[in-house]
Amino acid sequence: MEEKKFKRSILCIGAGYVGGPTMAVIAAKCPQYKITVVDISLDRINAWNSESLPIYEPGLYDVVKIARGRNLFFSTDVEGAISDADVIFVSVNTPTKTFGAGAGKAADLQYWEKTARTIVKCSSEGKIIVEKSTLPVRTARAMERILNANDKNIHFEVLSNPEFLAEGTAVEDLYNPDRVLIGSQETETGLKARDVLVEIYANWVPHEQILTSNVWSAELSKLTANAFLAQRISSINSISALCEKTEANVNEVAKAIGMDNRIGNRFLKASVGFGGSCFKKDILNLVYICESYGLDHVARYWEAVITMNDYQKDRFVATMLRVMFNTIAGKKIALFGFAFKADTGDTRESPAIDIAKKLIEEHAVVTVTDPKALENARKDLNEFHAVQYDSDPYLAAQGAHAIAVMTEWDLYRDLDYRKIYDAMEKPAFIFDGRNTLDHRKLYEIGFNVFPLGMNARKHF
Ligand code: NAD
Ligand code: UGA
Repeated sequence: MEEKKFKRSILCIGAGYVGGPTMAVIAAKCPQYKITVVDISLDRINAWNSESLPIYEPGLYDVVKIARGRNLFFSTDVEGAISDADVIFVSVNTPTKTFGAGAGKAADLQYWEKTARTIVKCSSEGKIIVEKSTLPVRTARAMERILNANDKNIHFEVLSNPEFLAEGTAVEDLYNPDRVLIGSQETETGLKARDVLVEIYANWVPHEQILTSNVWSAELSKLTANAFLAQRISSINSISALCEKTEANVNEVAKAIGMDNRIGNRFLKASVGFGGSCFKKDILNLVYICESYGLDHVARYWEAVITMNDYQKDRFVATMLRVMFNTIAGKKIALFGFAFKADTGDTRESPAIDIAKKLIEEHAVVTVTDPKALENARKDLNEFHAVQYDSDPYLAAQGAHAIAVMTEWDLYRDLDYRKIYDAMEKPAFIFDGRNTLDHRKLYEIGFNVFPLGMNARKHF
């Protein structure tokens, strides 16, 4: 009976970084819909129902508070929620496959397929199934086959609605997306389903920003968008290496090229490497798809984006080793930041993980500090018992030979570096993997400063 007061019942399977925030925003913007988010992880669901959400995302708690208990519900009853829903978003994880054919490149679709089979089992009428997870192009065909091979005589329509939010700005990205992309089959039922999804987004997204396309274009656009974004970072990082050899300054180069409207100024920040759960996974997936269609040149082209990212991380540690007199064994090195970017506690594929491991291989004594990611850092490095963790950057740097900035948290800009310098071993080094600190000031305090893609400032 309760259901009748809602115009539509929308379900999202997968309460992660995408499912949770996306559904919270739909619920906040559309009180007329009942939104349920389910997950097999009880811990995650309990956290979504608490004051301490399972992910850190600026502004997210305020959005959840608006709608939770009103028209937004978090539950582990996957099967019950499926039978209630008209529209089902699927936002389960699609990691890189670690076994069998395509291991290390292809997407592991076992969670997706399992979800499709559960949907069939628990449905007594047709539903709209929305691919929210990032999937290989042409997955919708496989999904449709699984969903529609049922003996209940019910039809499922599969749409592709990839998510473009970035972590750290998820709420803002969802409130004001550059575009929403909805791909459908161009059949009568496909177009009808597409209209339902357009109507949902049109509650707050202007019509001209709701793009529709065929389902394959939507699937491929998501992989392509991530590949292009990552490619820009690898491009500027490759130039950072050349800047260090030629006395050019990568910030100046980025500014000069970014003012060309055709290039644009975003995603041109040199860094110790891109991280995050998706860029590497999605590019590897693209590479695998190209290989499976015999497009080897295309595959090698995109693979180079990853090779360059690995090179940037290797090169960062090689510089540390070289300038610290070719040995860091026994030296304390403080990693400032462990999250893959600022404003998130997420450390998936964070460059800090690889850097920490390489430093440990050199027998350095690694200490990690981060305002939001220490818990994840402990999990990422749990096999290395000697690593220390300290939420206070001053304590993390105490007695250290070097600081390496891994994440561009604002707070690292405003620290009292005189106090930090005084408590460090000398000569004291700073390796700024994000070019975020005031290098001249640090040099004047006494640090030897090694930024990316520009001249080092050193006292020897
Ligand atoms: P995540 O790992 O944070 O969340 C996925 C959730 O799905 C987990 O909580 C997991 O327990 C749950 N799950 C798995 N199988 C399930 C099942 N059978 N039934 C119910 N729940 C199940 O992943 P994420 O970061 O939210 O990413 C999800 C998808 O969205 C991926 O395909 C990713 O590529 C894509 N994506 C992610 C981002 C991002 O910023 N993280 C942005 C855009 C797109
Ligand atoms: C990225 C995309 O930006 C989203 O559009 C996409 O939805 C998402 O991937 C996804 O599919 O998961 P995200 O990984 O959350 O979002 O964060 P980004 O802001 O893209 O940063 C990714 C990495 O690149 C970070 O490590 C960041 O520090 C690094 N980066 C970014 C740079 O090194 N330089 C830059 O100029 C920009």
